[in-house]
Amino acid sequence: MSERTLTSQRDLFEIPSYVTYLNCAYMGPLLKSALDAGRTAIDLRQHPWRMTPDHFFDSSESVRRLGARLLGTSADQIAIVSSASYGLATAAQNLPLESGDEIVILAEQFPSNVYTWHRHAADYAATVVTVARPDDDDWTPAILNAIGPRTRIAALPHCHWTDGDLIDLEAVSDQCRANSCALVLDVTQSLGALPLDVTRIRPAFLTAAAYKWLLGPYSYGFLYVDEAYLDGTPLEENWINREGARDFAQLVNYQDRYAPGARRFDFGERASLQLTPIAEVALLQILDWGVENIAQSLGVLTAEIAGRAEEIGFGVNREDRRAPHMLGLRWPTHLPENLGELLKRENVSVSIRGDAIRVSPHLYNDTHDIDHLFEVLAPAVRTAS
Ligand SMILES: Cc1ncc(COP(=O)(O)O)c(C=O)c1O
Repeated sequence: MSERTLTSQRDLFEIPSYVTYLNCAYMGPLLKSALDAGRTAIDLRQHPWRMTPDHFFDSSESVRRLGARLLGTSADQIAIVSSASYGLATAAQNLPLESGDEIVILAEQFPSNVYTWHRHAADYAATVVTVARPDDDDWTPAILNAIGPRTRIAALPHCHWTDGDLIDLEAVSDQCRANSCALVLDVTQSLGALPLDVTRIRPAFLTAAAYKWLLGPYSYGFLYVDEAYLDGTPLEENWINREGARDFAQLVNYQDRYAPGARRFDFGERASLQLTPIAEVALLQILDWGVENIAQSLGVLTAEIAGRAEEIGFGVNREDRRAPHMLGLRWPTHLPENLGELLKRENVSVSIRGDAIRVSPHLYNDTHDIDHLFEVLAPAVRTAS
C-alpha cells in the first residue's frame, strides 16, 4: 500500500489560529468528535438509571478491537490498562528472573520504563544494563551489542521520547529471539504515528498510554500480550475480567475462570465509563486516516522543520535515524534562558529539554505553524550565539 500525504486536519480540532501547537509528544489534543463523545459519557454519569450492564462491556470491547486493528493483532491479545507503567508492571510481574540475569534499557529512557526494571532487578538480584546514547543517533548497533546470553528482558521504545531517534525493532527482535530474551516495548511515543508490525516484531508485551499519539484520554492505554503469556498473572483481581461478569445477578457465584485472552490483565474499572468513548472515537479517526498516512504526512512537516532549523545553526538528528513524527533541535551552545517564556508568550508550544528542543507536530499543523515557530526561534537564538 502506498502512503498518502494528508492535508491539514485542523478543522477537526479546537485549536485557535494564534496557537502553534507542536507538542503532541507532550499531550495530543482531543478531537472535537472525541470531546462530544466524552460529554455524552459524562452526561450519562449524571443519569445512572439510564445505564445498562452493556455500558460496562460494549465500548471497552470496541476499543479493544480497534486497538487490535491498530497493531494488526486479535482483540484477545489486547488488555486495557490505565497507564504505560501499569502495562510495564504487568510485564515485569510475568517475567520472573534469576540472580545475575540482565535487563537492557536505554540511557535517558522514559522513567516509567526505567523504575519498573530497577525494582524488578533488585527483587531478583539481577542487573540493569543501560545502553549509552550514541554520538551518531544510531541506537540499534549499541542495543544489539548489549543484548547477550545473560539478557532476559530488553525493555525499549520504538523511538526515543526525547528526540524521536528511531530503533530498528526488527533487528532488535531477532537479537532477542536469538538470546531467548523477552522484548518489552513502551510505544507511548509512537503508537498511532509510526507503523508497527506486531506479528513481525513479536514482543512479549507492548504497552502505550493513549494521551499522546493516540489522541486519547489521560489515564488510559493498551497492553498487547504475546500468546505465550496469556495465562499469566494479572496485577489485580477484579469482578469484570472473570467469565460471565455480564450477569450482574450472579456476581457472587464466584468464578475461578478469567474472561478469555488478555482481558485478565485489564485494570480495575477498565470500563472507564467517562474515558472509553473518547478513546473509541479517537481510534476510529486514526484508523480512518491510516497510520502509514499519518507517518508520511508528519514526515513532510518534520523534514521542513529540520531543514529550517539547520539553516539557522541547530543540529538535528539524521532523517534516516529518526522517526517521522518528531525531532530534536540541538543548539551548539546554551539556549537563551528565557526561551521557554518567549515561546509561551508567542503561543508556541514545544518541549525544551536542556539545550535541545523537541518538536512534535500532528495533522492539525501546517506550514503556518512552522513559519511561526521560526519567526520566534530564529531571532531568539541569534542573540544567544
Ligand atoms: C515514552 C513514554 N512512556 C510513557 C509515558 C507515560 O507514562 P505513564 O503512562 O506511566 O504515566 C510517557 C510520557 O511522557 C512517555 O514519553
